[in-house]
Amino acid sequence: MSQTNRPHGANWRDFAWLKQFMPRGLYGRAALILIVPIVSLQLVVSVVFIQRHFNRITVQMTDAVVAEVSLIVSQANASKTVDQALEAARRIATPLDTRVALPSDPVTTQRQLSDFTGTRVVSTLEQGLSDLIGVDLETNRALVTMAISTDHGILRVVLNRDRVSATNPHQLLVLMVVTGFLMTLIAYLFLRNQLRPIRRLARAAEAFGKGQVLPYRLAGATEVRAAGKAFLDMRSRIDRQIEQRTLMLSGVSHDLRTPLTRLRLGLSMLEDDARDDLQRDVDEMERLVDGFLGFAQADALEDAPEQVDPVEFVHHLAENAQRAGMNVTLGEVADLDERPLRRASLERALDNLLGNATRYGSRARLSLIQGRGDLRFVIEDDGPGIAVEDREEALKPFARLDKARNQNKGSGVGLGLSIASDIARGHGGHLRLGDSADLGGLKVELVLPL
Ligand SMILES: Nc1ncnc2c1ncn2[C@@H]1O[C@H](COP(=O)(O)OP(=O)(O)OP(=O)(O)O)[C@@H](O)[C@H]1O
Ligand SMILES: [Mg+2]
Repeated sequence: MSQTNRPHGANWRDFAWLKQFMPRGLYGRAALILIVPIVSLQLVVSVVFIQRHFNRITVQMTDAVVAEVSLIVSQANASKTVDQALEAARRIATPLDTRVALPSDPVTTQRQLSDFTGTRVVSTLEQGLSDLIGVDLETNRALVTMAISTDHGILRVVLNRDRVSATNPHQLLVLMVVTGFLMTLIAYLFLRNQLRPIRRLARAAEAFGKGQVLPYRLAGATEVRAAGKAFLDMRSRIDRQIEQRTLMLSGVSHDLRTPLTRLRLGLSMLEDDARDDLQRDVDEMERLVDGFLGFAQADALEDAPEQVDPVEFVHHLAENAQRAGMNVTLGEVADLDERPLRRASLERALDNLLGNATRYGSRARLSLIQGRGDLRFVIEDDGPGIAVEDREEALKPFARLDKARNQNKGSGVGLGLSIASDIARGHGGHLRLGDSADLGGLKVELVLPL
């Protein structure tokens, strides 16, 4: 039978709407898991207790009173005169702590709404005493006042309320609710201690995603500790790998410089037609080596985040670029407050992007935009842009697209975009390539979380 074909029975999807009412945080969910069973248990116990146990006790107690009153009434009826009837009734009633009066006024049946055993008392009395006229439980709540018709007129019987129903039945319920509440509170406090390590782990992992290393100490239950340990191992492994890559790249670049310098020296002493070509090759190699070194430093450049005013920062970048002879203008600049940013690395990333824009196009525009939950540095140019299918490739290290297009401007190493992308990720953000609607060239967005 196919699994999807299930016409009968509840599917979990049917309860999907419930999800929107559920708390999202771990605290809320844990509290719910804790409180729901306790409250349900209390409800069930209360209902069953009142329904069964409590009602049955009331009925049993009232039945005993019915027997006594029936005896009083039958003795009164057996008497000849009113006085003899009252005398006979008293003889039985007095030792039973019951007061009687004859003849007397009728009584109307009434009880308070909150008196939930009262219903049972009245119905049991009515059933057991066929000549009952009325029962008053309201006028004096500590007493039960009955009027019964006898052969000698209306007989009034008054007895204490605690003879027909247990007193203060709600005490147990109040006690239960109060202890339930106290227990929930205590459990919640314990639970909070258990949840704290999970939240700390989440914070440390989130910070690491943004390139910050928060101190993290293993704590909490075994499972949380295991997750924390795995996280710490992962963090140090990633750190180690970055360090190794940096060391290797800078080592190689550094070691290549010495033979290159020797080559250049040797070349300058050569008298040959091929000398200029060789010289150009050496220049190219030096530029590449410089590029590698720069790339390696992008990781090594672990500048600590500092408070940066993004608006001032953008103006500073544009001015610097203009002074370097680039045709850079400012577009929209959102009014954003100071925030912690790695100024040096960000400047390096954006310089690279501005360099690309003016190298592959003729003018560039720099904007600062506030998006939903992020801030974006946007650089647009009027160059040829990058085709959609080449964008992923262009972000990789040492990727140079379409040699022909940059011939006259000298070919790059292919690291600019990948450095910018690395830096964006180090901030917990990313680099996005698109088309500039206004200028017609490439649009690069460096997106950072707010
Ligand atoms: N603004 C742009 N317009 C068009 N093509 C671009 C633009 N920016 C980058 N590209 C393309 O993407 C490729 C990769 O760019 P990237 O900046 O990583 O390297 P590069 O500019 O070649 O060298 P460098 O390391 O000197 O920056 C470039 O070779 C170029 O073909
Ligand atoms: Mg470049």
